[in-house]
Amino acid sequence: MKQICKNIYYVGVNDRNKTLFEGLWPLPAGVSYNAYLINDSKTCLIDTVEVDFFMPFIENIREVLGDRPLDYIVVNHMEPDHSGSLALLRKYYPEVQIIGNKKTFDMMQGFYHLTEGLTEVKNGDSIDLGDTRLDFVLTPMVHWPETMMTIAGGLLFSGDAFGCFGALNGAVVDSQMSCDAFWPEMERYYSNIVGKYGTPVQMALKKLSGVSVDYICSTHGPVWHEHVQRVIGIYDRLSRYEAVPGLVICYGTMYGNTERAAEVIATAAAEAGVKNIVMHNVSKSHHSYIIRDVFRYRGLIVGAPTYNTGLYHEMNVLLDELAQRDIKGRLLGWFGSYTWASKAVTEIARWNDEKLHFEQVGQPVEIKQSLNAETTEQCRALGRAMAERLK
Ligand code: FEO
Repeated sequence: MKQICKNIYYVGVNDRNKTLFEGLWPLPAGVSYNAYLINDSKTCLIDTVEVDFFMPFIENIREVLGDRPLDYIVVNHMEPDHSGSLALLRKYYPEVQIIGNKKTFDMMQGFYHLTEGLTEVKNGDSIDLGDTRLDFVLTPMVHWPETMMTIAGGLLFSGDAFGCFGALNGAVVDSQMSCDAFWPEMERYYSNIVGKYGTPVQMALKKLSGVSVDYICSTHGPVWHEHVQRVIGIYDRLSRYEAVPGLVICYGTMYGNTERAAEVIATAAAEAGVKNIVMHNVSKSHHSYIIRDVFRYRGLIVGAPTYNTGLYHEMNVLLDELAQRDIKGRLLGWFGSYTWASKAVTEIARWNDEKLHFEQVGQPVEIKQSLNAETTEQCRALGRAMAERLK
């Protein structure tokens, strides 16, 4: 039984077996699906877990409630990693009232065919459980249109917001564990899962600005208590697309010629004073780590070969993923290679003109077959130009 405070318990589960979250994002250290139980005059579950974990989940609930009935389930978010156990819970607790907003119930009918025993709340509504009052704050698009948060005194049940990848290894509250591994995974989680919704996250932060928060109970990762302000600061920075000085160099390569250009650019940028440089082979680094680093650093230089008279496939995918996230305020340089028909450089330029809208830095470098003295110097100039702009 994992008690967070007074009459509030953690009843979530760890998923250590899934390899890709949403079928897309690697989980090297697993992920937790967090749910919370309030054991007051009335009993209330905040969110559920993915349905595959229903048995350990119901055991956690029963350990707290014993034979008491479950009166309410609050659904802060309908994505099935959190709503997946609703239909089965209804079978265990047929009288339970499910609390959500209008958009929650549209989705609930579609996913689980639940249409009875629903209590609709609007922004600012509240429900009393006895000693505990629940206040509801609608926070649309953090991460889906129906997302909302629930406040119980100094506890904020925040849904996906302030969450991160990584299963919980024993302890649940941050003050009882080392959080070192969670910080980069919070950035990767935010940039990949919530990254497109910077403006709604900022609106949610404004709505919460007057709330005194002792504990943030999100749906993934630790319960934040000791690090509440740090966590809010990370989400605030990332949702404003604020970057730190540094450079991501990301390249595709078939036989090493484009990679050698990337090395020349990196060396020139480092010699010109850029200390934070990360390099990614776009075919080797999972894109989730590249996206995280683009959220972190202000400079980006991309390069790839021409392939099938277009842009190298993996680079096309990455640029599309970056464009989907509406990242603002980045500096972009680029280079490309070809053997008989040049296309990569013009395709990257088209991505930037039409979708990315980053500030162009330096002159693009176009390499025919392999580097020569002229294109080597052009690569050096591109690295120096980026370094100058990053100062
Ligand atoms: Fe963890 Fe948007 O679900």
